[in-house]
Amino acid sequence: MLELDRLSRKYGDIVALDDLSFTVRPGQMYGFVGTNGAGKTTAMRIVLGVLEPDSGEVRWQGRPVDRDVRRDFGYMPEERGLYPKMRVHDHLVYLAQLHGVAKNTARRTADELLGLLALSERGSDRVESLSLGNQQRVQLAAALVHDPSLLVLDEPFSGLDPMGVDAMAAVLRARVDAGAAVVFSSHQLDLVERLCDGVGIIRSGRLVADGSVDQLLSRAQQRYRVGVDAAAGWPLQLSLHLPGADLVEDDGHTAVVELKSGDDQELLDAARALGPVRLFAPVRTSLTELFREAVTDDGSAVLEESA
Ligand SMILES: Nc1ncnc2c1ncn2[C@@H]1O[C@H](COP(=O)(O)OP(=O)(O)OP(=O)(O)O)[C@@H](O)[C@H]1O
Ligand SMILES: [Mg+2]
Repeated sequence: MLELDRLSRKYGDIVALDDLSFTVRPGQMYGFVGTNGAGKTTAMRIVLGVLEPDSGEVRWQGRPVDRDVRRDFGYMPEERGLYPKMRVHDHLVYLAQLHGVAKNTARRTADELLGLLALSERGSDRVESLSLGNQQRVQLAAALVHDPSLLVLDEPFSGLDPMGVDAMAAVLRARVDAGAAVVFSSHQLDLVERLCDGVGIIRSGRLVADGSVDQLLSRAQQRYRVGVDAAAGWPLQLSLHLPGADLVEDDGHTAVVELKSGDDQELLDAARALGPVRLFAPVRTSLTELFREAVTDDGSAVLEESA
């Protein structure tokens, strides 16, 4: 397990991380999200030892992370770091060898990865001759070529076309299924919602929400879409009937009611009291919506209360 334990870090007067803690399990894909400047890159750099924290510790499988432990990590930095003049396949083999992988194994793995990322044809081209998105694919291959147990990827999906996103997602999913721990930052929240088992939302260097996507979404809101065969005006009646229920939407046929308190059975009873209930379903909010609430003053209070 990767443990970030109470990390704090300042740049001069700027607080980049403020007591940040979260964990990522082997076999877990963890999405790390937050607005620009929230502290994601700072946290990832600390995990990789590129930067020292002012306080706090990072552990992997219970051990404080040092150079030795880090050999088993794969990293895709925000500032992509490939040698532009090197040829793609040679580059991957070179990086694998730096991690102690034997040359033959390195060659085989580089072939495999280039295949998975649809770059087999480009192996003998120089890195600089590839488009930005394809260089990014090579960058992922570079992070993977020594078969790391932990992958830390800083915005791996930015700038990729939809096929690139799918290829990258499939490669990461396969790693996670094979038992690796993967943590990546992203601003593409629909992608995070789709791919990740765990999500952390960071705001001004502090974690304001952490958990599985389902947990976060159900914790954040209790909204129900309700349909009742009753005289016009029933949605308003329903919300007035139940303290702690707000009418969020009313299209004349169905209503969306948010429960601030009470439970769904009380809402159902109140609806039944008005007439036959023909629709009653929880409304799933999206991670994007949740994120907006979590990173504004209003919403983070709500999340912390319910956490
Ligand atoms: N080298 C540095 N010197 C001074 N301040 C820095 C430095 N690196 C980061 N910061 C500041 O630390 C804070 C966190 O930055 P960080 O790069 O970790 O954010 P981020 O979440 O990765 O943002 P983005 O989504 O834009 O990549 C910001 O206020 C940033 O301006
Ligand atoms: Mg960043």
